[in-house]
Amino acid sequence: MKIFERIVMKNLIILDHPLIKRDLAILRDKRTTGEEFRGVIYRISGLIAYEVFRELRTKTVAIRTPLEKTKGFKIEQQVILVPVLRAGLGFIEGFIQVIPEARIGHIGIFRDEKTLKPVDYYVKLPKNLSKAKVCLLDPMLATGGSASAAISYLKKKGARNICMASLVAAPEGVKAVQIAHPHVKIFTCALDRKLNKKGYILPGLGDAGDRIFGTE
Ligand code: PRP
Ligand code: URA
Repeated sequence: MKIFERIVMKNLIILDHPLIKRDLAILRDKRTTGEEFRGVIYRISGLIAYEVFRELRTKTVAIRTPLEKTKGFKIEQQVILVPVLRAGLGFIEGFIQVIPEARIGHIGIFRDEKTLKPVDYYVKLPKNLSKAKVCLLDPMLATGGSASAAISYLKKKGARNICMASLVAAPEGVKAVQIAHPHVKIFTCALDRKLNKKGYILPGLGDAGDRIFGTE
């Protein structure tokens, strides 16, 4: 790997786990029905969340078991999840199953199909972003335009500790996000080959929003 690529890929974490790889294969398969797709994205997003929050700060608390006193842990760090509409919504249920303490913001962005540039249309975020670990959720990182724009917006609103979770990332998108936002860790289940002429990830899994919501 060239030095440039090593720097750009520094904050890329590819989740190499058999359960994640099994689920991603189901999601990639064009024969997977909408119903199945939603079930599997729910399951895989819980597994992704488990990895993303591996380093979350905890505090010790006193506990009484039925037999004696002991110590346990509580999550100390505030967490804010920010799904990018629409496809990011597919991650929410799985994430809050493992981190129910999280608050949730929304950013609405879609890619203009001709220019592939991000167009934003909706934002609603919780307060005090600066104190929280903010995780942007979007299954697809293609050109990186949507993620870069969403991260810039989160920074403008005060977020300082930002990461991103995705199912599939294209090298082009990882580079774009890492150049614009070098401190943002990108968690993904796979680094795919490249983008096609229409900006779709190859091999990818198709249009994530359409597959989740049945709008094809
Ligand atoms: C998809 C996907 C990302 C974006 C990635 O959304 O969920 O948000 O494309 O592409 P990029 O990295 O090139 O910006 P889409 O624009 O299809 O919006 P939708 O889910 O609302 O249909
Ligand atoms: N958005 C998707 O949903 N899929 C892609 O392959 C690229 C962008």
